[in-house]
Amino acid sequence: MMPSLKVEEIREDFPILKKKIRGGRLIYLDSAASSLKPIQVIETIREFYLNEYSNVHRGVHLLSQQATSRYEDVREKVAKFINAYSPEEIIFTYGTTDSLNMLAYSYALRILKPGDEILLTVMEHHSNILPWMMMSSMTGAKINYIDITNDGLINRNELDEKISEKTKIVSVTHMSNVLGTIVDVRNIARRIHEVGGVIIVDGAQSVPHMPVNVRELEIDFLAFSGHKMLGPTGVGILWVKRDFLGELSPFRLGGGAIREVTLRDFVLLDPPHRFEAGTPHIAGVLGLGAAVDYLERIGMDNVRKYEEELTDYTLKRLSELGDAITIYGPNNISDRGGIIAFNIKELDSNIVGSLLDGYGVAVRTGKHCAHPLHQRLNIEGTVRASLYLYNNKEEIDYLTTALNEIATATKA
Ligand SMILES: Cc1ncc(COP(=O)(O)O)c(C=O)c1O
Repeated sequence: MMPSLKVEEIREDFPILKKKIRGGRLIYLDSAASSLKPIQVIETIREFYLNEYSNVHRGVHLLSQQATSRYEDVREKVAKFINAYSPEEIIFTYGTTDSLNMLAYSYALRILKPGDEILLTVMEHHSNILPWMMMSSMTGAKINYIDITNDGLINRNELDEKISEKTKIVSVTHMSNVLGTIVDVRNIARRIHEVGGVIIVDGAQSVPHMPVNVRELEIDFLAFSGHKMLGPTGVGILWVKRDFLGELSPFRLGGGAIREVTLRDFVLLDPPHRFEAGTPHIAGVLGLGAAVDYLERIGMDNVRKYEEELTDYTLKRLSELGDAITIYGPNNISDRGGIIAFNIKELDSNIVGSLLDGYGVAVRTGKHCAHPLHQRLNIEGTVRASLYLYNNKEEIDYLTTALNEIATATKA
């Protein structure tokens, strides 16, 4: 079968893959924490600081005008990337965490009252739990959780039971950062809309890896990070469906967000600029634009298809370890992304991670900012191998051999 993208050509674009780690090759399987960067993104940022640098939205001079126009072009690019209704719906933030906090303070704080409910799942990342705990303590709204099934899927019965007229907000991950589970957010969107609530989607792990079309998903808000989708750190996105733009009150105020200020009063700019007070991460936004161009050129359908193939291959190869390995998350490839959490025998995940590091294999270990999920699974931690478009089967073979050696060396 023809691979859905030319991975060896893609690998050439990532300079860090040529780096030697402990004298050997680097096997980077930690893209769920942060992705590597292609040369196109690195060069865009370098060129901006070297030859094009200026602040945005401030000056009448040429460099500032050019920087402003490129910054706003990226807004349009990102809007097209997720099929937003208009670029005004794209707010640049510092990352998914920042986007979710912004939404909590700018929106949830305004609408929640005692007796209302916020619905989450037990597999959320802390960034999609803590802002809601804060909102709960500030407003008196209660947090409910949807449980998962044994193979890491949303429990449908729980969904039916827990959505009610009291539920004002459902905030849910689109792809679990531990189990890889892809959540059917459209189904949840339909359910919550029936009772007049809204749905917020944490797209930190989905947007980089699969086509995400906010209109088709019928969702209201989407948060994601640039650094997990080939872009730089320090830049994120909050997409707000246009119907809600007027209902948010900015929680960061200052320069760049206002039309006029007197000693007593101020008039805000229109969205999205009213939400972007202060000098933004301009180079980061331009780098994000280059990342979106890169992903668009390959095609998100191809990225997803390739990762499905590679995930399938990884699950099969890791299963060869038999009783020595426990793999978590959905069995069905269509239900999951390329995030594979596992444990080797009874070994502490940090020990396995350190041993893999000796082989030049970079994985994440521990609880992955998802303590409640690990409590639910009754485990101390997991080793997480996460894939992206630059990983290949050879790397998976190498991982499997390394794990086999680790498992054999630790035989009782
Ligand atoms: C599902 C999920 N949500 C939120 C975040 C937080 O993203 P950031 O650290 O970029 O704000 C992460 C990062 O790992 C994540 O995986």
